[in-house]
Amino acid sequence: MEKKIKTAVVGAAGYTGGELLRLLVHHPQIELAWIHSNSQKDKRLEEVHPDLIGESQLNFTDQIETAGLDLVFLCLPHGEAKPFLETHVFSGQTVIIDLSTDFRDESEGFVYGLPETQSDQIRQASKIANPGCFATCIQLALAPAVEHGWVQQPVHMSGITGSTGAGKSLSPTTHFSHRNQNVSVYKLFSHQHLKEIRQTFRKLNAGFDQSVLFVPYRGNFTRGIWVTAYFPFAGELEEAYQRYEYFYRDAAFTYVSRIDIDLKQVVNTNKCLVHLKKEAGQLVVYAAIDNLLKGASGQAVQNMNLAFGLDEKAGLQLKSSVY
Ligand SMILES: NC(=O)c1ccc[n+]([C@@H]2O[C@H](COP(=O)([O-])OP(=O)(O)OC[C@H]3O[C@@H](n4cnc5c(N)ncnc54)[C@H](OP(=O)(O)O)[C@@H]3O)[C@@H](O)[C@H]2O)c1
Repeated sequence: MEKKIKTAVVGAAGYTGGELLRLLVHHPQIELAWIHSNSQKDKRLEEVHPDLIGESQLNFTDQIETAGLDLVFLCLPHGEAKPFLETHVFSGQTVIIDLSTDFRDESEGFVYGLPETQSDQIRQASKIANPGCFATCIQLALAPAVEHGWVQQPVHMSGITGSTGAGKSLSPTTHFSHRNQNVSVYKLFSHQHLKEIRQTFRKLNAGFDQSVLFVPYRGNFTRGIWVTAYFPFAGELEEAYQRYEYFYRDAAFTYVSRIDIDLKQVVNTNKCLVHLKKEAGQLVVYAAIDNLLKGASGQAVQNMNLAFGLDEKAGLQLKSSVY
C-alpha cells in the first residue's frame, strides 16, 4: 500500500481549519498525525466541529510535535504564522502550507499558491502561501485579460463575501444582529488582498500599472464570494471568451461559463466560475467561489495535491446544493 502523507493542522478549531479537516479526513493519501488548538485541547473532533461526528477518532492537542511530519497546514490569523514558524522549526522535509497573508509576498522561500498561474512552481515547492479569498476570485476574474494587455485603464470591481470570511471569532460586524438582512462596505479601495493581486498581475504582464478599484461588501449569507469587474474593451465578446477559455484550458477547477452563473453553483465546491458580458464598451466579468474552499482550504488541498505529485482533484470532488 502506498505510504500516506503524515499531516498536521495548526489552528484546526477555526473556520478554515475545520473546512480543511472535512477534506482531509476523506482524502485517500492523508494520515492526520495531530490537530492543534490552544482553546480546545483534549476535546474530541466532533465537540468542536459537530458535523464531523463519526468521521474520525482524533482529539485536539495544544502540543506541537514538529518531528516526523510530511506536511503541516497553518490556519492561523494574519500576523501569527510568521512568529509561529520562528518558534516552531519543522524539518526541511516537511511541506508547509500557510493560509494567512504572512508569506504571500513570496518572502522566505514561499511560493504563492494560485494553481491557475503558478502550477509548475507549486509542484516544486516545499513552502506554499495560499492566496486570500477575495484575491483568488479577483485574480481568476481578470488574469486572462491582464496577461493579454487588455486592462489599459483603471479596472473597477465590487465583491461580496459571506460571514465565514471573517473567521470564527465574534465581532460587531459578524454578529447575527448586524449581518442578518444587512449589507455594508468595508476597506474601500484599500483591501489587504490588493497587494497580492497586483503581484500576480505584474507576473502575468510586467507592464501592468493600472489602478484596481475594489469595493468589498459584507454579505448577509454564510459562504461564498461574488465579484463583478469591468474595464473598457474594444474587442468582441467572442474574442474575450476564446482568450479566457484558452487561459483556463488546463485548470482543474476554474470554468468559463457561457451561460449566466450564480453563487450557489460554487458553494461547497472548489470551483471558480467565470462569466463574461460586453456592455456599453466594457468587458464585464462575473466570478464566483466558495471563500472557505477555492478561497482557502480547498485551494490549500489543491496545492498539497500538486506539491505531492497527486491527482490535482484528489479529495476535492465536491458537490453544490442548488436547491
Ligand atoms: N475564513 C476565510 O474564508 C478565509 C479565507 C482565506 C484565508 N483565510 C485566512 O486563513 C487564516 C485562518 O482564518 P480562519 O477564518 O480559519 O480564522 P479563525 O476561524 O479565527 O481561526 C483561527 C484559529 O487560529 C488559532 N490561533 C490564533 N492565534 C494562534 C496562535 N498564536 N497560535 C496557535 N493558534 C492560534 C485559533 O485557535 P484556538 O481555538 O486554539 O485559539 C483559531 O481557532 C487567516 O489568516 C485568514 O485570513 C481565511
